Amino acid sequence: MYEQISHTLLNDILNQIKPEISKADLRHFYTRLGANFYAIHSLFEKLYGDRDDFQEHALRLVETMARKYINRPEVLKDADAGRERDYNWFLSQKWVGMALYVNGFGGDLKGMCNHLSYFQELGVNMVHVMPIMECPEGKSDGGYAVSNFREIDERVGSLEDLTRLADEMRQRDLLLVMDVVLNHTSDEHEWAEKARKGDPKYQDYYYTFENRTVPDMFEQSMLEVFPQTAPGNFTWDEEMQRWVMTVFNNYQWDLNYNNPAVLIEMLDVILFWANQGVDVLRLDAVAFLWKKIGSTCQNEREAHLILQLLKDCCQVVAPGVLFIAEAIVSPSEVIKYFGEDAVIAKECEIAYNATFMALMWDAVATKNAKLLNHGIKSLPVKLDRATWLNYVRCHDDIGLGFDDRDVILAGYDPASHRHFLVDYFLGKFEHSHARGLPFGQNLKTGDTRISGSLASLVGLQYAIETGDIEVTDNAIKVILLLHSLIFSFGGIPLLYYGDEIGTLNDDSYLANPYKMDDTRWVHRPTINWEKADLRNVPGTVEYAIFSALKRMIAVRKEIEVFADFNNRELIEVDNPNLFVFERYNLHRQADHVLVVANFNSEPQYLNLSEIGEWKQQQHQIVDLYTGKSPDIYKDTLVIPRFGFYWLHLA
Ligand code: GLC
Ligand code: GLC
Repeated sequence: MYEQISHTLLNDILNQIKPEISKADLRHFYTRLGANFYAIHSLFEKLYGDRDDFQEHALRLVETMARKYINRPEVLKDADAGRERDYNWFLSQKWVGMALYVNGFGGDLKGMCNHLSYFQELGVNMVHVMPIMECPEGKSDGGYAVSNFREIDERVGSLEDLTRLADEMRQRDLLLVMDVVLNHTSDEHEWAEKARKGDPKYQDYYYTFENRTVPDMFEQSMLEVFPQTAPGNFTWDEEMQRWVMTVFNNYQWDLNYNNPAVLIEMLDVILFWANQGVDVLRLDAVAFLWKKIGSTCQNEREAHLILQLLKDCCQVVAPGVLFIAEAIVSPSEVIKYFGEDAVIAKECEIAYNATFMALMWDAVATKNAKLLNHGIKSLPVKLDRATWLNYVRCHDDIGLGFDDRDVILAGYDPASHRHFLVDYFLGKFEHSHARGLPFGQNLKTGDTRISGSLASLVGLQYAIETGDIEVTDNAIKVILLLHSLIFSFGGIPLLYYGDEIGTLNDDSYLANPYKMDDTRWVHRPTINWEKADLRNVPGTVEYAIFSALKRMIAVRKEIEVFADFNNRELIEVDNPNLFVFERYNLHRQADHVLVVANFNSEPQYLNLSEIGEWKQQQHQIVDLYTGKSPDIYKDTLVIPRFGFYWLHLA
C-alpha cells in the first residue's frame, strides 16, 4: 500500500544508504521493499515508534535487508523467483518431512551427506536438522542454547559442511529446515558475556534487574516451562550482580525485544541462514517473544507483531524462505501464528499442529476417538496458504494441552482424565504396555508431560522384552495408524527419525550429568545403522514399519486431494471408536477420499448410510493404501482393529 509518511521515510533512508549498496542491482529488492514497506514501517513504529532513535533503527533495518539481498547467492534468488511463481508450492501433498539430530543420525554433517539416499528411499524430501549452531558443551538444551548464531557447532562440522549439505540436498530436491532460536541465547553468547562484564548496551539485550522488585512482579503471572530443573523465571548472575530473565533453563537468557537492536540482530541471523541455502526456518518458542508484567508472557500481541515484521522483511530479501512457528499453545492461540485478520499467512506459513498430536495420543490411550473428534471439531479454520506440520512424535515431550471444554464434551472430568492419561503412558495400569517417562512435573499445578519414543509408548518395547507377538503386532498397527493420519490430515507430515524403524527408548542419557535430569533424552536416539538395515529383511519389525510407511508416503504423493487447501471435512459418525474425515477437491466435488481410522483393539463397524453417497456406490470403493476393496458386509464397512482406510470411488 502507498502511504506518504512511510514513503518519505523510505526515500530518506534509501538516499542515506551507503553508496556501495545503491550501486548494486536491486531491482527485485526495491519492488518487494516498495510493496512491503508500509507494513514494515507500521509494525516497526507500533513497536518502537516512541523512541528517540527510531529513525536510526529504521535505517539499520533497511540496510540489513539490502546487504543480505546483495549477498544472496544467485541460485537462491532463482529459487525465490520460482517459488514466487508457484506460490502454493508448499501446500502440495508431495512434501514429507523428517526431524533429526545430526549426531544421532549421521554422526556429523559429512556423515549425514552419506545418508541422504535413506530419505529418498523412504520418500522423505524435507529434512529438519535440529539445532547445530555453536553451543556450550554441556549446558546446551540439545542445541537450543546458542552461543554463536553464525557458526556451526564444531562437533558436527563447519559452515562449509553445511553449505555442501544444502547444495547436495538441493540437487536431490530435498528441502533443508533449520532452527533459529529467537527467544533466548546461551549465557555463553558474546552478548551475554558483555552484559555480564557490565556493558549497558548488552545488558539491554536481555531482561536484567538489580533487585527482585520487577522479577517478583513478573513471577506473579508467569508460568514455568521446566518446573523441576529450572523453577522460576529469573536467575541471579553473580558476576553481573543482577537478575536475568531465564524462562527456559537458567543458562538460556531471554532476549529483550523491547530493544529494536535485538530485533535487527535476529533478522540478520534469519537472513544469514536463508542465504546459506536453508529453505525453511523453524522459529523456536515464538509464543514467548514478548514479556509483559501482569501477563503469562506468552502469546502477547507484540510477539505477533514481531513475527509479522520478520516475515515482511524476509519476503523482501528471500521470498522463497518459509517460517515454521513452534508454538505449543492452545488451539485458539496457535492459529494466530499464521497471522490474524488476514487472508493468507502473514506471520509463519507453517505451524506445529500440537493439538492434533496430543489428541491422537488421547485416542491411543482411551482406544476411542471421542476427544479427538471434539478437539478437531473445535480446531479453528486456518488461513489460506498456511499449513500445518502434523506429527506424532518430536524431540520434545507430549503435553496434554487440550481444551478443557472439549474434554468435558467427550464426557470426562478434565483433571482426572489427564491423570489417567499420564498414568497410562507411564505404564501404571496392567492393561497399559506404554513405557513413557514423566517430564516437567509441576507440583503447584499438578501438570505432567510425557517423554518416550513412539515405539515404547505404544507398547513395542514391552512386547519385545516379553516376546508377546500379539502386542508386537498391535504396536506396529498403532504406529501405522498414527502415521496414516498425519499423512492424510492436510499439512506437511513430519516424521521423527528412528520412528520409521521402531526405535525404542534409549536410557544412555542417564550416564550424562547434563542430560540425566531431562527425560526428553530418552527419545533422542543414535541410529543403529545395522538395525536400520533390517528394514530390508521381511519378518522383522523394522521391515514391517519401514515398508508400510514407504508405501503410505508413495501413495500420499499421488493423492491430490491430500494437498492442503483447507479441503477437509470432519464426519461425525455414531461409532465413538472411529475418526472419519473426508478430503475433497475444491473444484471437482466428486473427487474425494474418505479417511477412516479405528483406534479400538476390536474391529469396528461403520454404517455407510452415515456417510452420504458412499452407500450407493459401495461396490466401487477401494482403499488406496492397499489397492483392495475394503471389507463391506450389507452396507456396513468393517474396519480391522487399529486399522485405517484411505477410501476412494473407483
Ligand atoms: C523449543 C525446543 C525445546 C527447547 C525449548 C527451549 O521449544 O523445541 O527442545 O527446550 O525450545 O529452547
Ligand atoms: C513448552 C514450550 C515449548 C517447548 C517445550 C519443551 O511446551 O511451549 O516451546 O518446546 O515446553 O518441553
